[in-house]
Amino acid sequence: MKLGRNDACWCGSGRKYKQCHERFDKRIEAFALQGHIVPHHDMIKTPEQVAKIKESAAINMACLDAVGEAICAGMNTQEIDDIVYETTKKMGGIPAPLNYEGFPKSVCTSVNDQVCHGIPSKDVILKDGDIVNVDCSTILDGYFSDSSRMFMIGNVSEEKKRLVEVTKECCDLGLAAVKPWTFLGDMAQVIHEHAEKNGYSVVREIGGHGVGLEFHEEPWVGYCSNAGEDMLMVPGMMFTIEPMVNMGTAQIFTDKENNWEVYTMDGMPSAQWEYQILVTEEGAEVISY
Ligand code: MF3
Ligand code: CO
Repeated sequence: MKLGRNDACWCGSGRKYKQCHERFDKRIEAFALQGHIVPHHDMIKTPEQVAKIKESAAINMACLDAVGEAICAGMNTQEIDDIVYETTKKMGGIPAPLNYEGFPKSVCTSVNDQVCHGIPSKDVILKDGDIVNVDCSTILDGYFSDSSRMFMIGNVSEEKKRLVEVTKECCDLGLAAVKPWTFLGDMAQVIHEHAEKNGYSVVREIGGHGVGLEFHEEPWVGYCSNAGEDMLMVPGMMFTIEPMVNMGTAQIFTDKENNWEVYTMDGMPSAQWEYQILVTEEGAEVISY
């Protein structure tokens, strides 16, 4: 059913459609007519939803801050899980990974050649020279946040340090490329070009995602596509920038025992940072990092 110009806008603002999102919809429709993939209304967050998601993100970032304070050589990754669980609970949230599609822990801890979805364990002891991604996700009152950071343990080789730094640069360059009325592929190209220029590869099979009202929403966000490809970005969309950058081959495999932990095929290190971002009228706002 088509919305009349004097009807209340679909966004819930209470304003008339013609004074609210009519022009916005027409602009999206023009891109759709040119054959582009365009977002659906349910991908547009309202200001009220954004405010709730930010409260969730405050817990998520507090968890990563707490991990950053404590992480050191000799610590096992179950201790990281404990910090995330305790911090989240104390602040009134729920760790989103816990029991998510059978994931057994509250956070993902991926060490060295682990690409993502590392399962915290008493048996995984961090040692001098390790690089570790801690990927934290929080639910607060049904609103989701998701971000991850890399941590370097003790004396890390120049090679691995550079991988961690370049991967961060990839995210920052990708973030700067997020502008409404351009495409996810524009952001993706900036990311994979920077990784490749530095001799690295970007994982193709696993990417980012819409987030906020669910843990993983549409769209799927890849970092190997190119300018003009993938979905149009419009204000109010929220998604993650989380490329997995490998020092060697982009090929990966999943542990057959637990069906979660992903490793590089060649055993070389992999790094990842993750920002949760909101597309704004001007560009992007970081919601969780
Ligand atoms: N936090 C991851 C992401 O960035 C998802 C992990 S799924 C889990 O999308 F079950 F392993 F937590
Ligand atoms: Co994510």
